[in-house]
Amino acid sequence: MGVRWEFDVVFTLFLLLGLNILWLAQVCEGGFTSTYVRNGQLSRDMPLDSDVFRVPPGYNAPQQVHITQGDHVGKGVIVSWVTPDEPGSSTVLYWSEKSQLKNSAEGIVLTYKYFNYTSGYIHHCSIYDLEFDTKYYYEVGIGNSTRKFWFRTPPSVGPDVPYTFGLIGDLGQTHDSNRTLTHYELNPVKGQALLFVGDLSYADAYPFHDNTRWDTWGRFVERNAAYQPWIWTAGNHEVDFLPDIGEGKPFKPYKNRYHVPYRASKSTSPLWYSIKRASAYIIVLSSYSAYGIYTPQYKWLEKELLKVNRSETPWLIVIMHCPLYSSYVHHYMEGESMRVMYEQWFVKYKVDVVFAGHVHAYERSERISNIGYNIVNGICTPISDESAPVYITIGDGGNLEGLVTEMTEPQPSYSAYREASFGHGIFEIKNRSHAFYSWHRNQDGYAVEADSTWLHNRYWNPSPEQSSIAIL
Ligand SMILES: *[C@@H]1O[C@H](CO)[C@@H](O)[C@H](O)[C@H]1NC(C)=O
Ligand SMILES: *[C@@H]1O[C@H](CO)[C@@H](O)[C@H](O)[C@H]1NC(C)=O
Ligand SMILES: *[C@@H]1O[C@H](CO)[C@@H](O)[C@H](O)[C@H]1NC(C)=O
Ligand SMILES: *[C@@H]1O[C@H](CO)[C@@H](O)[C@H](O)[C@H]1NC(C)=O
Ligand SMILES: *[C@@H]1O[C@H](CO)[C@@H](O)[C@H](O)[C@H]1NC(C)=O
Ligand SMILES: [Fe+2]
Repeated sequence: MGVRWEFDVVFTLFLLLGLNILWLAQVCEGGFTSTYVRNGQLSRDMPLDSDVFRVPPGYNAPQQVHITQGDHVGKGVIVSWVTPDEPGSSTVLYWSEKSQLKNSAEGIVLTYKYFNYTSGYIHHCSIYDLEFDTKYYYEVGIGNSTRKFWFRTPPSVGPDVPYTFGLIGDLGQTHDSNRTLTHYELNPVKGQALLFVGDLSYADAYPFHDNTRWDTWGRFVERNAAYQPWIWTAGNHEVDFLPDIGEGKPFKPYKNRYHVPYRASKSTSPLWYSIKRASAYIIVLSSYSAYGIYTPQYKWLEKELLKVNRSETPWLIVIMHCPLYSSYVHHYMEGESMRVMYEQWFVKYKVDVVFAGHVHAYERSERISNIGYNIVNGICTPISDESAPVYITIGDGGNLEGLVTEMTEPQPSYSAYREASFGHGIFEIKNRSHAFYSWHRNQDGYAVEADSTWLHNRYWNPSPEQSSIAIL
């Protein structure tokens, strides 16, 4: 990505013309590197006896309750939870606030083993054909220690439906993770659904990937994930591949615990899928599954992009774990091979924004592309491109690995803003032509926008730049 060209250019100039030119090259640097200084200490995982991990009281009480979208358009919800003592009931009772009549849906229950860990009873129950834009109450644990929650379905899919997505990545379960979640909850701009860009529990930091840390994580995020859907993306910390101890099936804990509606978008794997929600079409990709030509993910995405109707869902959002553009030193260019495969499609189909995590810091790009390069022609510099997405790295949820602070210098011209602080993002769709994006750092007051920008939809808000690009 980015900086292969930069090294080449700078190095060649250095050889040819000497240090003066190297200095000049640095003058032509990119966007803004924040000078905000925060304490860079590693944050430890919250201890097992922390309040956020408390087991709900009562015999076989459901815990780790979370919801996600359950169909392609937002009339379905998947409710998941764990019972510790016995399977108990997989039924969900639910009713809209407008009615007293309780409906019931029947789910499934499963368990899995990971080395010497045996999971609790994991329940997944899909509810279909809900009314749009309606508050529903629901109950799980019918029979013993019933617990009640609620959610609100999104408005019917359409071009002018305002909707607000939260963005969190690489969350983990440290005190910083708890701050990130608290700031998201107390942000006066309320996220209605959360786009989670991968790396959930970091249970794999423990010996034998001690899966009890998957359980604590489930209890930690319940306070939000039971009330609004979290749209899941798998990261490298979901792979859990440990053949030496007999765990050779990738994504085992993740796939057992987090079910997603992948069949609704004709996907053959829960690791890549799409949903529509209000005015947005969201495509979830897997950085850690094959994505080369002829692979299932490639073939699915090729067809999927053709299905997006921008008159119906003007906002096309792609989420994945590993960023395609990042100017931090850590994980530098890890997304390069997926960029080579998919960036041309993102430009062709005018994806509005690509959200990723993985790099434990924050960065927002300009609209740029780097699709002219074919190894031999030397066109390897990302250029300003109004058809290209904005790339946002939001891997700053606050996990136990801490922040990455080392950046490539000078800041590449594609990088608009970068800062190594923990935080979350908010993507606020106003209507078919305008969306407002903001990033919120954990050290600030809940309302502070540390970075923000308007996104202009290029279908519905043609700009002068766009016409000039069209002529080019
Ligand atoms: C986590 O944050 C919540 C909400 O701010 C707070 O009530 C709780 O005490 C915190 N827990 C820990 C272990 O920091
Ligand atoms: C799993 O095995 C490890 C290593 O032998 C041990 O420390 C741990 O206590 C075991 N856990 C369980 C649940 O048996
Ligand atoms: C759990 O629920 C079952 C079925 O309703 C009931 O028979 C049993 O007594 C309950 N157990 C406890 C400990 O409440
Ligand atoms: C695209 O969506 C619009 C608005 O919902 C609808 O009128 C049109 O028929 C759709 N086009 C196709 C090809 O489905
Ligand atoms: C869309 O939202 C923007 C920002 O709030 C506003 O300026 C613009 O007038 C709106 N457009 C329409 C057609 O409502
Ligand atoms: Fe990661």
